[in-house]
Amino acid sequence: MSSINPNITQFEPGAPVPEGAIPLCVPEIRGNEWKYIKECLDTNWVSSVGSFVDRFERELAAYVGTKHAVATVNGTAALHIALLVAGVQPGDEVLVSTLTFISPANAIRYVGAWPVFMDAEPDYWQMDSQKMVDFLENECQWRDGSLYNKTTGRRVKAILPVHILGHPCDMDPILEIARKYELPVIEDATESLGAKYKGRMVGHLGDIACFSFNGNKIITTGGGGMIVTDNEAWVHKARYLTTQAKDDPVEYVHNEIGYNYRLTNIQAAMGVAQLEQLDAYVKAKRDHAYQYTQFLQDVPGIQVQKEAPWAFSIYWLYTILVDDSKFGMKSRQLMKRLRKAGIESRPFWHPTYSLPPYTGSQAFNVEVADSLYAQGLSLPSSVGLTFAEQHRVMEAIVKSRSPREENFPDDF
Ligand SMILES: Cc1ncc(COP(=O)(O)O)c(C=O)c1O
Repeated sequence: MSSINPNITQFEPGAPVPEGAIPLCVPEIRGNEWKYIKECLDTNWVSSVGSFVDRFERELAAYVGTKHAVATVNGTAALHIALLVAGVQPGDEVLVSTLTFISPANAIRYVGAWPVFMDAEPDYWQMDSQKMVDFLENECQWRDGSLYNKTTGRRVKAILPVHILGHPCDMDPILEIARKYELPVIEDATESLGAKYKGRMVGHLGDIACFSFNGNKIITTGGGGMIVTDNEAWVHKARYLTTQAKDDPVEYVHNEIGYNYRLTNIQAAMGVAQLEQLDAYVKAKRDHAYQYTQFLQDVPGIQVQKEAPWAFSIYWLYTILVDDSKFGMKSRQLMKRLRKAGIESRPFWHPTYSLPPYTGSQAFNVEVADSLYAQGLSLPSSVGLTFAEQHRVMEAIVKSRSPREENFPDDF
C-alpha cells in the first residue's frame, strides 16, 4: 500500500488504492471469478475461443433481451464495429452526445465519419433528445432517400446516444425520429448495463448497442466489451470483422480488412462470474445513491443526481453539481479538498466538442453541457463501498463547505 499524495487528485486505474483512501470506483470480485478463470488455465482454453466466450455472449444477450451478442476486447472496439455494421461510411455524419467520454466520438472518426455533437439536457444530464429532433427537422434536408446536414452538406447516417452515469437517455423521441429518417440508433450503453427505460432494458432500445467491462464499470473483465443486437446479418458481420475477417482460416484468405477485437476466454470467464452478481451490484449502487441523496439533498449549493420518472438508473457513478455561489467553492476545489481527506472524486468529462481533435466539428446549440462540466463531481461509487466510507465522504463534503474549517486551509 502506498501513502496518499495530496497533489494527485486521481488514483491510477487498477493500481492499489493507498491505505485509508476511498477510490472512485473499483472492481468487486467476490464470486466465481477464481473458479472459472482456473478452469480456463486448467484446460488450456486461454485464448479467443472457448466455452466462456460463448457463454458470456449468450448470458449477456439473455440479460439484455437481445437475440445476439458478440464479445470484444473493449467497449471502444465494440462501438467501432457497431458503426461499421450499421453502414456508416467515410464522410458520413453521426449525431452523438457531447457530455461523455471521448470514446464514441473517436470510434466515429475510426470509420472516417464525423461527429455532430448534441447538447446535454439539464435534468438528468443525458443527450438532449428534443434538441436532437430540432437539429434533424430544421438543420437537415431529406434528398434522394437520405438526410443531409444543410451546414456541412454531409449525409447524416446514424444516431449514437450515450446513456451516461448509469441513467438512460429519453429514447422515445430519438427512436421516433430515427424511424422517420431511416437512421440506425447505436446505443452507447457502456456505463449503463442493467438500467431501464420505461421498463425496457438499456441496450435493447435501438438497433445495436455496446457495453464496456473495463475496470471501473459495474461488471468488469479487466478490459472487455460487447455488441448486442437483434439483427442477424449485423451480428454475423460483427463476428467476422472482430476476428480478422477470415474467409478461409486454413489458406488465410481475407476478403475484407478485419480487426483483432475478440475477447479472450479468460476474460469471458471473469465476465460470466461477474454477470452472476450483476443484480446484487445494481442493488448496491442504488442503495448508495439513496444514502447520498438523503444526506446531500439539503446541503446548500449541492444538486443531487436525479432519476427520471421513466428511468431505472444503476447510478454507475453517483454525481453531484456544485454551485459555488451557494456552496462557497467550485467543484474542482471540492475535489482537491476531498483528495486531501483521501477521497477520490472526478469531474464530468470535458465536453468532447471543445477538445482539440474535435474543435472543427459541428456542435449544435451546446449550452448546458459546459455548465454541467463546470459543476459536476462524481463521488465514490464502488459496489463494495461501505456505509462508514460513504459517511466519511458525505461528512467531508459538508465540512468542506464551512469557511472556518481549519483542517482545510484555502490554499487551492
Ligand atoms: C461512454 C463510454 N463510451 C465508451 C467507453 C469505452 O469503453 P472501453 O474503455 O471499454 O473501451 C467508455 C468507458 O471507458 C465510456 O464511458
